[in-house]
Amino acid sequence: MTNSLWYKNAVFYEISVRAFKDSDGDGHGDLQGLTEKLDYLKDLGVDCIWIMPIYPSPLRDDGYDIADYYSVDKTYGSLDQLKTLIEAAHQRGIRIITDLVLNHTSDEHPWFQSARADKNSPYRDYYVWNDDDKKYAGVRIIFQDVETSNWTWDEKAVQYFWHRFYSTQPDLNFDNPNVQDEMLNVVRFWLSMGIDGFRVDAPTYLFEREGTNCESLPETHAYLKRMRRMIDADFPNAIMLAESNQWPRELIQYFDNGDEFHMAFHFPLMPRIYLALAQGDASAIVKILNDTPVIPANCQWTTFLRNHDELTLEMVTDEERKLMWREYAPEEKMILNLGIRRRLAPILNNDRRKIELVNSLLFTLPGSPILYYGDEIGMGDNLNLPDRHGVRTPMQWDDSLHAGFSAGTPFTEMVQGDYHYLKVNVADQMKSQHSLLRTIQKMISLRKQYAALGGNQLEWVETDNPAVLAYLRGQGDEAILVLNNLSEHVQVAHIPAEYQTSGQNLFEDRPYILNAHVSLQPYSYLWIKL
Ligand code: BGC
Repeated sequence: MTNSLWYKNAVFYEISVRAFKDSDGDGHGDLQGLTEKLDYLKDLGVDCIWIMPIYPSPLRDDGYDIADYYSVDKTYGSLDQLKTLIEAAHQRGIRIITDLVLNHTSDEHPWFQSARADKNSPYRDYYVWNDDDKKYAGVRIIFQDVETSNWTWDEKAVQYFWHRFYSTQPDLNFDNPNVQDEMLNVVRFWLSMGIDGFRVDAPTYLFEREGTNCESLPETHAYLKRMRRMIDADFPNAIMLAESNQWPRELIQYFDNGDEFHMAFHFPLMPRIYLALAQGDASAIVKILNDTPVIPANCQWTTFLRNHDELTLEMVTDEERKLMWREYAPEEKMILNLGIRRRLAPILNNDRRKIELVNSLLFTLPGSPILYYGDEIGMGDNLNLPDRHGVRTPMQWDDSLHAGFSAGTPFTEMVQGDYHYLKVNVADQMKSQHSLLRTIQKMISLRKQYAALGGNQLEWVETDNPAVLAYLRGQGDEAILVLNNLSEHVQVAHIPAEYQTSGQNLFEDRPYILNAHVSLQPYSYLWIKL
């Protein structure tokens, strides 16, 4: 598959392999199971899957703590099965990216084991050590629910080691040239196998320097650029996607001159979609997109509503966060760190109108959208499970025992109550033309049919109504007017004279006359081709 700009208008789909489909009845989803479900993803319209880490790991952070960068944990299958998956996906025109965890390893990685056991080990300097825990003072703690410091004392090493995440995830020392080279080898290994790129986990924290916040340092960018040069030279169709939770004006350093990352998650947009909905007022979305600079032509944002982590509220004010917690996380157990550990449908009270509306935004605003597995059918979560595991439960395929996920006992407790698989599953929603799944499928197919929806051209349309977010995508021959009513009441949107014309309602596939005023039902949306 060649087309080096494929990611600029692609629909991504994030998968936890363990939770997607179990092919051998051991209760764990695996690579073969995922391979069996590729036709489902093809039908849905997915262009690229992002698979969460499948490397050997003690799973203290669900695989983001890697114990071996060069193989696949046997519960998922083998490297050969991965190759089969890649081939089968490529045959269907689907690409696959995986997580690349650069910043840290598991404390069970042989490098760390050797490093802590022996001061003279060649791996000692692979990590960041210090005699006291005072260095890099003031650097923020990310997993603040669990960690009280970025330093942890190691009895064996008789020193402290540095970690930005869990204390079971020691940070690698990127000042060591061997670490730098090692990680380039890891990249080469997976790309040679046919992987199409990486969601680069936590690239912000690679280097540390005294007197800074140790984030996005020049040394970090220089190294990431080096990685990009290698990829461009040897694997020109592969991408690097940055997971860096920053303001757009800071994030563009990660695109720089189009010579660092191809893509970056638009983190601040995500909570503002929920905020705007809670406020019944579009201005939070308008403001953040107006604050989003133009990016180089070979770069693209990735947009999303949910992922495998908590819905992070780092990027809103204290007041906005309180409002969103009140609205979307009314019970204490729903909150994690600065976020909300729930899935999309429960966050929105399973209100079909709201679920469709936020997806209307996802599929019509600029950026390449990423869907989180299961959200296309409105799957629920399981708050009995700790940490972020409640949003990583088995995919609900049908109403047979264990949701058609596994013939054995699933690795975790399934979702109960209103979102039980007897009520929410793929098979049922396939049968009905009116299901959420069918609507999402339709949104994706319209997005692909109309290039205007995939480009980055966006013009706000003034409707004299703050509850209505209206914009024009594309221009000239292909222009699409999108209207979204963010409020719980019927709203009237004024349509400026230049758009008062005849068009086509893309969902109903019939003519639509735009008059001076359009009346919009609560939480409804309209996509009109002019
Ligand atoms: C991942 C998390 C993980 C963390 C540490 C993140 O950005 O999304 O799931 O816990 O990196 O690797």
